[in-house]
Parts: sequence; C-alpha cells; structure tokens
Amino acid sequence: MSARYQPLVPAGLAFDEGVPVNLQYGDVYHSRSGALAQARHVFLSGNGLPERWRARDAFTICETGFGTGNNFLAAWEAWRSDPQRCRRLHFVSFEGHPFRASDMAALAHRVEEPSVRALAAQLAQAWPLPVPGTHRLDFEEGAVSLTLAFGPVQRMAAQVQACADAFFLDGFAPGRNPDMWSRELFGQLVRMSAAGATAATWCSAVAVRKALSDAGFLVGKVQGFGRKREMTVASLRPNLGRPAPCRIDSDARVAVVGAGFAGAAAVHALALRGIRTVVLDPVLRNGAHAGHCGHLAAAMSPVLSSDDDTRSRLSRAGVLLAGRRWRDLPDEARPLTCGTLEIALDAGDALRKEDALRQLQLPHEWAQWLDEAQAADKAGLSGGHGGIFFPQGRFVRPGPLVHALLSPAECRPVAAASMRHMPDGAWQLLGDDGKEIVTASHVILANAAQAPALLEASGGRALPRLSAIQRLAGQISLLRAGPDEPSPNVILAGNGYWLPADGGTCVAGSTYAEPGEAPGVSVRGHREILEKLSVLSGLTAGALAGRLMPEKGWAGWRAALADHLPAVGRMPGMDGVWLSCGFGSRGLSWAPLAAEIIAADIAAEPMPLERELLRRIAPR
Ligand SMILES: Cc1cc2nc3c(=O)[nH]c(=O)nc-3n(C[C@H](O)[C@H](O)[C@H](O)COP(=O)(O)OP(=O)(O)OC[C@H]3O[C@@H](n4cnc5c(N)ncnc54)[C@H](O)[C@@H]3O)c2cc1C
Ligand SMILES: C[S@@+](CC[C@H](N)C(=O)[O-])C[C@H]1O[C@@H](n2cnc3c(N)ncnc32)[C@H](O)[C@@H]1O
Repeated sequence: MSARYQPLVPAGLAFDEGVPVNLQYGDVYHSRSGALAQARHVFLSGNGLPERWRARDAFTICETGFGTGNNFLAAWEAWRSDPQRCRRLHFVSFEGHPFRASDMAALAHRVEEPSVRALAAQLAQAWPLPVPGTHRLDFEEGAVSLTLAFGPVQRMAAQVQACADAFFLDGFAPGRNPDMWSRELFGQLVRMSAAGATAATWCSAVAVRKALSDAGFLVGKVQGFGRKREMTVASLRPNLGRPAPCRIDSDARVAVVGAGFAGAAAVHALALRGIRTVVLDPVLRNGAHAGHCGHLAAAMSPVLSSDDDTRSRLSRAGVLLAGRRWRDLPDEARPLTCGTLEIALDAGDALRKEDALRQLQLPHEWAQWLDEAQAADKAGLSGGHGGIFFPQGRFVRPGPLVHALLSPAECRPVAAASMRHMPDGAWQLLGDDGKEIVTASHVILANAAQAPALLEASGGRALPRLSAIQRLAGQISLLRAGPDEPSPNVILAGNGYWLPADGGTCVAGSTYAEPGEAPGVSVRGHREILEKLSVLSGLTAGALAGRLMPEKGWAGWRAALADHLPAVGRMPGMDGVWLSCGFGSRGLSWAPLAAEIIAADIAAEPMPLERELLRRIAPR
C-alpha cells in the first residue's frame, strides 16, 4: 500500500437543531443564521460578486470545503439570475469527506428556496461516487462546471490546475480544522490565482489573517454575518497572480489527426464546448467508423492496484468521466453499464486482490470482492477463485460509438504527412504532395504510433518517451451465443476477456502478436483466445471451439509506450499542438479522459485531473 494513498471516508449526515453538523469535527456546515444568506453575504459579496463576473467570458471560483454544496448552489443561482453574467462559471472545490449521493439528495429536499432546491436536485443527481481524485460535473449545458477535488486538502491543493478569480475559504473552525487554514494551503491558492484574485471567509481569526497575508494577500475586515461581528476579505497583492488564460476564439477550429477512439473522443469533447473540428484520416474513405469495422464489441473496464497506482487512477477517472460525457449518445453508441468481473488467477491472487480491496476501502458501487459462489452467480458462469466486481464496467460497440462521437466534425479522408507553423500562429496540415489540406489554430495528434513520424516530418523535437512508442497487433474472436450456449452476464476479464452476448454473438479477446507482425485474424489467434476463455469461465476450450465463428473476428493495432501510460497534453516547443496517443489496450477508458484534458486546456478551463498525473502522461 502506497504511503500516499488515503482512503476517502464519506461524511455521515447529522443535524443539530436543523443545521447539518459534522460529528468528527464537532462543527456546523454553515451559520445557524442561514446557509444561503451566509453564502451570499460572506462568499459572494465578500468577493465582489456578482459584479466582478460581469463583462467577463469566464470566471473561476475556488472553494476550500464543499460540504453540502450550499456555496456552490448560491453562486450558481446568482449566476443564473444575473442578466449580465459571464458566459461560463467554473467552480473548483476541495472536499476530504464528501457526502454520499443519497445524503446529497436528502440535503437537496431541505433547501428552502424553490429555485435553489431545483439546482440542488440536479447536483444530487450528478453527484459522483465518493472515490479519491478529481471529478468534473457540468450543468447548464456546460456553461457551469464543477470540479471536485476529493481527498485531503493537504494533498489535493497542490494537484489542482486552475486559474482562480475568487476564493471561498470555508473550512470548519480553525481550532478544530487547522489543515483548512494553513499557510501552506494559502500558498497553493496563490499559485493558482489569477491576477486580481480575491478571497473571503466568515472567519476573522488573527492566525488565519496572518497566514493569508504571509501567503500574498492584502487582508481586510468587513461586517460579518449573523452572530459574527466581523469577517475577512482579501485581495491578491498586485505583483502576484497569473494573467487570465486565453480561450480559443469562438470562430477558430481545431484539426484532429486520426479518427480512432482518441480522435473521435477529442471531437466530441470539443463539440460540447462549442469548438469546431476537422478530422483527417484515410480510413474515413470507408465511413466514419471504418477503423472498427468488424470490431463488434469492446470492454471499458477499470483496473485496480493495491497501491492505487497511476494506471488505476487514470482508468478510474476515465471510466467515470465517460459515464457522464457519453451518457447522452444515441442508443447504439452509448456504453452499456453491465459490470466487469476481474477473475482471480489462483488462490494466491484471490487473497492478494481481496486484501487490496480491504485496504483501499473503495465504495461498493466502484469495486467489491465476490467469492467463488457470488462470482459464479453474478457472471452466470463458474467464477473460478472469485474476483473483483466493478459495477461500472461497460460494454461498448466501437463502430457506432466512433461514428456518433465524430458526427459534429468535418471529416476529410486523407492522411497528414507534415505540419507547418504559420507566422500568424496557425498550423497548416500538408498532404503527401506537400499541398495544404487544412489550416487550423490548434492541432490534436491522435494518430497513435504514427505521431512521432508526423512530428519529425514537421520539424518537431524528438521526445525520448514518445519516440519509444511500439505498435502491437492483435485480434478478437466471435462466438455464437444461442439459448443453450452459456455466455457471461457481465464482462469476464483476467488474462483475456469475454463480453456478454449481443444479438446472438459474443466477442472474446484478445491476442498480442509479436512486434512487427501485421494484424490479421488467424486460427492460431482463435485457439489462443479460446484457451484464455477456458481459464476465465471453467468451460473447456474444446466445448467453446464448437461455438467459434472462425471466418469472423477483427484485428487491429495497439500503440503503447514503454511505461504503459498514454502520452497526453501539449507538445513541448510546438505551441498549439496537443498529443493524444499511446493508449495500449485501454483506449476506451483513457481516450475520453485525454479528450477532456485537451479540450479543457484549449478552452482555458480548470483541469479535470490531478497535476501529478498530468505530468506523468505529458509528452516528453
Ligand atoms: C484485438 C484488440 C482488442 C482490443 N480490445 C479493447 C477493449 O476491449 N477495450 C479497450 O479499451 N481497448 C481495446 N483495444 C485497444 C484499443 O483498440 C486501442 O487502445 C485504441 O484503438 C487506440 O485508439 P487510438 O485512437 O489511439 O488509435 P487508432 O485506433 O489506431 O487510431 C489512429 C488513427 O490514426 C490514423 N492515422 C495514422 N496516421 C495518420 C496520419 N498521418 N494522418 C491521418 N490519420 C492518421 C489511423 O488511420 C487510425 O485510424 C483493443 C485492441 C486490439 C488490437
Ligand atoms: C464548513 S464545511 C464546508 C461547508 C460548505 N462550503 C457548504 O457550503 O456546505 C467544511 C468542509 O471542509 C471539509 N474538510 C475539513 N477538513 C478537510 C481536509 N483536511 N481536506 C479536505 N476537506 C476537508 C469538511 O469535510 C467539510 O465538508
């Protein structure tokens, strides 16, 4: 278990004379004189809102202590009812003990003002699972975003990447909750401050005011709320803070090279922000989903490690994000939540997995241990030694998914051979013949293992981590799933995978060819997959062979880096170029996350992932 991993322990909901209280800290979540009134007086007025967000395109608020969400709801409601509001409101908040969704729903019922109660109901509906990490929620068709950093603020403050205009400082009383008022925390807030940022809090303790001043704020006092005579307001010293980040022009467009999961997910994430795209890929000659023709189904399955390593955290963030972002796609394209059962390989592996789950203390809605009998019951097939069940595992039809994600884009069925940086900062994409295909203000390279060659042809610096990208071919097999032919109710995973039946057919996978081998569906590949299914299901490979559709299947490439992590982010030394590649066998869980990271960066929004993870996957 990593020394840095701390399980997230949700808060219990309790009340004292109708006011929510936290029994662990022995304090109330808001003033006894009224939650919304406190939010409006202390946090909104204390930061000069709503006036300060007027005439702005976007405004970012950062809060310490999300709690019941009252301050967020008050800000959202004030934004909604302000005819001069900024176009986008971003709200980032830290929370170490989030409530469960059922408690958020109970709290929403208690909100007195009907207009705010309706917003609280939306918040409760969208509320994420209490798992560590960053969770991004969107409201008002994306005009209001909420980025929740779940985990101890001592750790998470350094992980948020945002440019904040106003801070709502709302820990419990400093004597009971010193971590929420420390000089170190305020230093991190200064790091993420825009020039001219302000802060406000109900607290007027001398030590808090001194810590704010030491960190870089000019501190003042104004009239407090309720029984508090005074409260603190602060503004960042004039020499500190970053210039507001530039958002892409509203009429600009982004060129996306590659129309696989990575490129398609990027198109969709940008379209949600109203950003136009043009996609280049020769496979588009044969239709928008051509790269996945015959790839009838695939798995979006979380991974888990006992130390919650980078891969687990990225997969958790990606699977949860895809659940929110791709929820409104047409039926055929929408991932179906059926659950994934990751089977233990043997008794020792079962013990290790069970122990890891015990230590990680993840909620049951994310991961749970199933013993042999429970696993067999869940899967409808023998569960071997039991396994970890991920209720959020998803069944995906790659063709319809890619088709739907690409639908907002202009598609060009050509390959980009090189790129040229123009004096005005735009990028020209050129074909084999050196002629311009398209010019765009931003480019996303989502062309898997071909990205380094395109960069090299464009004069880009060779990056050691990226240059080591390898591609490995592999195939899937199709099995008949008639009434007397058992197939799993959930995704069975381990060494290989077996997906639930869809229209009388099951997809099973997969093989890993030798480096240099071209993709192809072969008898040897089918045999290998049947062996894997036999271990997963307890059925014999011989019995399974009778159900094989040998002439069918799909073969393709995986592109992977040596550290098995993707390469996502800005391309160093090439202003306006982003990379999204190296997804290995995890394209479905990592591509939506990569797309969201890049789209958030292009749109100058708070980042939907921790900084340390962004650094690990950054192109280098
Ligand atoms: C057999 C098999 C089974 C798999 N099963 C699963 C699964 O169940 N779940 C899962 O999550 N993942 C699975 N994967 C992995 C998944 O398919 C990959 O992670 C994913 O396809 C990577 O997506 P991508 O968009 O990065 O790359 P690709 O899908 O390879 O797309 C890259 C695109 O870029 C285009 N391109 C290249 N160069 C240029 C250029 N110069 N100009 C324009 N276009 C260009 C290519 O034509 C291609 O269409 C599987 C892979 C294989 C091989
Ligand atoms: C006063 S309450 C916040 C009230 C909230 N703003 C609202 O509108 O309901 C303080 C919050 O800080 C959280 N908190 C306390 N210590 C923390 C820590 N070390 N890391 C992260 N969150 C913490 C608590 O769980 C609690 O939700």
